[in-house]
Amino acid sequence: MPATLTHQVFPTAEDASAALATEIETLVRVRASENRPVVLGLATGSTPIRLYSELAQLHRMGLSFANVITFNLDEYLGLERSHAESYWQFMHFSLFDHLDIPPENIHIPDGTIADEDLASYCAGYEAAIREAGGIDLQVLGIGHNGHIGFNEPGSLPEVATHVTSLNEITIRDAARAFGGAEFVPTRAITMGVRTILDARRVVLMAFGTSKAQVVSEALTSEVTADLPATYLHNHQDATFYLDEEAASMLSQG
Ligand code: F6R
Repeated sequence: MPATLTHQVFPTAEDASAALATEIETLVRVRASENRPVVLGLATGSTPIRLYSELAQLHRMGLSFANVITFNLDEYLGLERSHAESYWQFMHFSLFDHLDIPPENIHIPDGTIADEDLASYCAGYEAAIREAGGIDLQVLGIGHNGHIGFNEPGSLPEVATHVTSLNEITIRDAARAFGGAEFVPTRAITMGVRTILDARRVVLMAFGTSKAQVVSEALTSEVTADLPATYLHNHQDATFYLDEEAASMLSQG
């Protein structure tokens, strides 16, 4: 059985988010005292919104994020930055507009890259992560189909940043935000499973009853491409931060 993937259950999503915000705060402070940067891998979606509010609050209380470098997991292909549903918009609205991270330290895959340039663009994204020193802490959510980033069921573990086609469950989940499934982009740029596993620490957050089943399967299943979150069993320091609802299908004790 897989052994290394741990989980922590918090009373609420707010508690889980506050715990992760405190961990990030400590990392930022320690690195600042050493004159070193912190490299964070960040996710979009509904799950990290409370975490991002907590980080904004920490900044209002005086914490500087000037030594932070960020890399986002993914972006829809075909969306301009200015599109209301682009992850660029989401990240600026929910986080970056409220912090003092230098703009040049912020990396979000560019959804407007032409097809013929995508391979070199993805290689460049990986190179930028390496040049920054690698990801210290990767924040993840989990899709109802078990995806991490946009690594959909069937994704292989050795793949780095790449272009992927979105699975029908992912498109269905995004349909409301886009005003209909027909308006959801069908492709995205995403960090690969390899990129995620290369992070020094990974925290996957999952909240609410709708995630209970996939969380239970991810924590108990053997490693399988059918459920990409199971690849985290192969990571030395990966943890699920759950609220009680998302943990409700885990067996006790
Ligand atoms: C987001 C991402 C996705 C989401 C996942 C959960 O950048 O890569 O894997 O983390 O789809 O989405 P929410 O949090 O909206 O349930």
